Amino acid sequence: MVTSRAATYKPLSTLSHRLQPSVSAASRLSGAHTASHRQQRRELATVQDAPPPKRTHFGGLKDQDRIFQNLYGHHGADLKSAMKYGDWYKTKEILLKGHDWLISEIKASGLRGRGGAGFPSGMKWSFMNFKDWDKDTKPRYLVVNADEGEPGTCKDREIMRKDPHKLVEGCLVAGRAMNCSAAYIYIRGEFYHETTVLQRAIQEAYKEGLIGKNACGSGYDFDIFIHRGMGAYVCGEETSLIESLEGKPGKPRLKPPFPASVGLFGCPSTVANVETIAVAPTIIRRGASWFNSFGRERNSGTKLFCISGHVNYPCTVEEEMSIPLKELIEKHAGGVRGGWDNLKAVIPGGSSTPILPAAQCNEQLMDFDALKDSQSGLGTAAVIVMDKSADVVRAISRLSSFYKHESCGQCTPCREGTKWTEQIMKRFEKGQARAREIDMLQELTKQVEGHTICALGEAFAWPLQGLVRHFRPELEARVKGYAEAHGGEARAGGWDHDAQKKGLLISPGQ
Ligand SMILES: Cc1cc2nc3c(=O)[nH]c(=O)nc-3n(C[C@H](O)[C@H](O)[C@H](O)COP(=O)(O)O)c2cc1C
Ligand code: SF4
Repeated sequence: MVTSRAATYKPLSTLSHRLQPSVSAASRLSGAHTASHRQQRRELATVQDAPPPKRTHFGGLKDQDRIFQNLYGHHGADLKSAMKYGDWYKTKEILLKGHDWLISEIKASGLRGRGGAGFPSGMKWSFMNFKDWDKDTKPRYLVVNADEGEPGTCKDREIMRKDPHKLVEGCLVAGRAMNCSAAYIYIRGEFYHETTVLQRAIQEAYKEGLIGKNACGSGYDFDIFIHRGMGAYVCGEETSLIESLEGKPGKPRLKPPFPASVGLFGCPSTVANVETIAVAPTIIRRGASWFNSFGRERNSGTKLFCISGHVNYPCTVEEEMSIPLKELIEKHAGGVRGGWDNLKAVIPGGSSTPILPAAQCNEQLMDFDALKDSQSGLGTAAVIVMDKSADVVRAISRLSSFYKHESCGQCTPCREGTKWTEQIMKRFEKGQARAREIDMLQELTKQVEGHTICALGEAFAWPLQGLVRHFRPELEARVKGYAEAHGGEARAGGWDHDAQKKGLLISPGQ
């Protein structure tokens, strides 16, 4: 329980490791001259007053600026190792800063949710501290989304298995910011090893008094529980996750009410991604302006990118937001198999983000706004690379099967739409379709988008829209190839053009 809800907190000048402005060349020069002291001071002021030059290139994150120092498991996941690398440093002082200060720092850092939607985290967390929240006697929960079901994504599991204390400390700090009584970490059932490592880290933290009653000696009580899911993609959706945590089938709830007013067990709750929570303590320790100095405006910070597919070295890497896609792939994943010119397409943010053709990848920046401008999305920053050997129609068809399998079936557009599109895409794989069905496919996805309870409707619609937008000639070529091989274009439903002549049963009008 929160025991020191309205305590007063004194500022901690020694806490922040904010980057100091570097000594400019001009000030160093002025020191070498014999001009008067006053003159020197005026020169310095002039230099500092000038607006900093606008950055035009992003990327090349330095090792000292990486939040996840143990992403590759070079040191242990235990508490002692974590402390050696900066975790749990002055956590008590951080907690004593109080919720308003913590939320304002997260807001100032520009952190946006790392779970896919990219909603500003500071604002989302502030919804928990609504008017008279402290008069409400109900418990309040932070729910950590460790379901990581989006195909192509493999970042949260890396945090949990290599840097679990970042998440445990993050739960405490974010929990304090939202005045939560406890955190529930909802972890995908298959992540058995990650669960074990994380549970061990939680136990270490309890043993050292870092969490539990009077966490870190701050007067604040905070518990952390792990709950293992059963492996349904839709349980990653926040309200579905809450239902599942409550022991019910994981079917998304209609919003409103939003979880901040009616969440887990009917109490105020916030669902946040593992990466979002795990970066919070470092942001607080190093300062909002440090985090904000990375990436383009509104897209700040460092980010874990998962690069898979036809690259030489698939990997998960922490880089600066807004890094060019080409640089990300070439620098960290050893380039596209067969060279950059062998690139066919990239799915930039996990399976639900629309595919980008090679031509668009040359100049693409990797951040929320740049990818939105390209009619795609940063999503979970899971970059799936396809070289020229890839069959994009088959790849997107495979995704359609995935979404059909994962639809919970509550909404008719999603339940029926995923089934239809799977059938259509299976036929398109062989070219057993009509050219006009390309537009029908597009129209169908538009009918689903925005008309469902949860965003799985969009998640299944967007990859198909991307395919039609950029690879229509490939779909048309399939249809043409089938027509040439079978003496005519297939009829609706995939029947052969001469099915009627052959006396096969088809519906009237076909
Ligand atoms: C079908 C579906 C699956 C999702 N799966 C995940 C997931 O596995 N992990 C995750 O963090 N967010 C997932 N999300 C997003 C969550 O609903 C939620 O927006 C997110 O956890 C919020 O965290 P953030 O604010 O830190 O980004 C999913 C959303 C949908 C619609
Ligand atoms: S959109 Fe699909 S997955 Fe989401 S609630 Fe509706 S039927 Fe279920």
